[in-house]
Amino acid sequence: MSMANRSMVTIDDLSNVEIEGLFSLADEMSQSMDKQTTVCQGRIMASLFFEPSTRTRLSFEAAMNRLGGRVISAVDIGATSLAKGESIADMARVAGSYADIIVIRHPWEGAARVVADYAGVPVINAGDGGHEHPTQTLCDLYTIKKERQTIKGLRIALSGDLKYGRTIHSLSYALARFGATILFHPCPGLEMPEHVLRKLTTRYKGKLKRYEALGSVSKKGLFPIDAVYMTPSSPHQLTMIPDISMQIELEKEVDALYVTRLQRERQAKMGEQGANEDYVVVNKELLKKKKFERTLVMHPLPRVDELAYEVDGDPRSMYFKQAARGVPVRMALLALLLGAKQVAASGEDDYSFVRQVDYPIYRRDSGLRCSNPKCVTNQESEIRYIKPAFKIVNLEPLILNCIYCEHELYPEYIATTDWHEGKLENKKYHSAGSNWTRRIKPDKLVIFDSEKEAQARGFKPSSYVIRNTES
Ligand code: NCD
Repeated sequence: MSMANRSMVTIDDLSNVEIEGLFSLADEMSQSMDKQTTVCQGRIMASLFFEPSTRTRLSFEAAMNRLGGRVISAVDIGATSLAKGESIADMARVAGSYADIIVIRHPWEGAARVVADYAGVPVINAGDGGHEHPTQTLCDLYTIKKERQTIKGLRIALSGDLKYGRTIHSLSYALARFGATILFHPCPGLEMPEHVLRKLTTRYKGKLKRYEALGSVSKKGLFPIDAVYMTPSSPHQLTMIPDISMQIELEKEVDALYVTRLQRERQAKMGEQGANEDYVVVNKELLKKKKFERTLVMHPLPRVDELAYEVDGDPRSMYFKQAARGVPVRMALLALLLGAKQVAASGEDDYSFVRQVDYPIYRRDSGLRCSNPKCVTNQESEIRYIKPAFKIVNLEPLILNCIYCEHELYPEYIATTDWHEGKLENKKYHSAGSNWTRRIKPDKLVIFDSEKEAQARGFKPSSYVIRNTES
């Protein structure tokens, strides 16, 4: 099965069978790392790292070198024309004309998608702000599979900064797809973003038991938990488990504990969320708990204070193995996307994640913007050409999902393009909460950020505008 000329912007760009196939190829490559030098001979990889990186960049570059290819690189926005106000799209077009494949890390969320849209060659997302980091997930899954043979049915705990940790977001989607149970242990204030949780329950169709439902069991103890996700195939129906049995459920053995550092650089304001003193430290003491007896301790690295050096020698510690496995995993990925290798297709595949044709798309010049200031669509140099677009993921209440950064938007006012019917007085807007939202067909829907904007576009309030009487 060929994967040539495809990009990997999110973990959902690869199906489960393709990921398994990639792992078999990584196994093959790791057995003879020094014999792969003809696989990508004559091919060039552009390595564009506009955020700090050690492991990801070096392992990608090592991988391309091991495959016999060449690497060209840019590592500082200040040293590129982006600093002169060039758009990412122009940069992507040019880089795509110099290289056969592009690996990009960028601080703006959704930047890798823009590069993939314009480059004309395969693009690999090596981390786009706090959004996703799919190749780290490949290293994480590969490690879990190597150590536990399967992912299905495992219980994986995610700890630390779940809000801004991009590795966590990609990993959660993959774990859900491979049928694992996920235990969320965020540092208070750094819980999983709403859009990630919604995707887990809608796209991957599992059940989520939230903090409020977990009640008293969650707050107590060293290791606060705020939600549990269980896949639809799980024999347990989590929502059916009475809270009283929840304590027992939570004390069950954990197969892997995935630790992340506080993503200081992504906080809106320094120290705004997740005070350091609330951050759980994984150390010998914590790992003495019965439920961690056989737990794989994982971390994407770099670590700061959240993972004690005293556990480095512990056989349960996996983080340096995760990093080392980055080379064969990335060799396999580069070889596949460059069409130098193919994966052996085995078993039924579920392509629903790869072909993302599900929700209606909203793309209109109504002035509607993504609410995430770090989204690529809100950056000055990009506003000139990117037209914001959203998936309509829910009608009641109206919820939109930015196609670039995936943040959610809850707009309050809507209208239909059918207003005219010859009469200007029919050009009305309504509250998104009124039943008009259901009546308007998605292709006729106009959505506004505010009443001011609706009026600026010549619409008048209908009797279906519900106002907060206090204002
Ligand atoms: C991670 C990243 O860059 O998101 N590091 C990595 O790629 N291995 C994790 C982090 O920076 O905390």
